[in-house]
Amino acid sequence: ISSGSEEKEKTLAMIKPDGLLGNYTERIKEVIVDYGFSILREITAQLDQDSAASFYAEHSSRSFFPSLIKYMTSGPVLVMLLEKENAIADWRTLIGPTDACKAKITHPNSIRAMCGQDSEKNCVHGSDSLLSAQREISFFFEDVSSGETNTTHDEL
Ligand code: TYD
Ligand code: MG
Repeated sequence: ISSGSEEKEKTLAMIKPDGLLGNYTERIKEVIVDYGFSILREITAQLDQDSAASFYAEHSSRSFFPSLIKYMTSGPVLVMLLEKENAIADWRTLIGPTDACKAKITHPNSIRAMCGQDSEKNCVHGSDSLLSAQREISFFFEDVSSGETNTTHDEL
């Protein structure tokens, strides 16, 4: 027997430097709340080279990596811990494709279409899997345990 709260899932959302610079924060938060997410925590952070590189470690061998790190350290980011049923997949759907240029054509209502510029300056981040969500949540919110991240399958 599970209560409603046991179905909830957490994910990590971030408004990247171009999003903060462009004053998209309030608009994005409206979308977040409209779609039924709770914002459990939020922090503003200025990433340094090491923390940005560590956050995006999976991409360290890609040609775009140096430019990505430069961009991600160019100004503050707003990091949010979101919660809702199916939060990880739903937030990814809401932000849209990685390339904001393409998003404007294929997913015009997505957040990246509304606020992003291209495949690098795409305004927002979202965890892409349960494992990523657990890693990224503990990256910014050390006291949120991974066991707390998703309780849906605790009984399995
Ligand atoms: P990725 O994990 O592929 O995309 P997403 O953010 O949708 O999960 O890439 C991480 C970030 O790396 C992406 O948000 C922006 C940057 N990036 C580029 O700058 N150029 C690229 O060609 C790609 C694929 C990503
Ligand atoms: Mg990704």
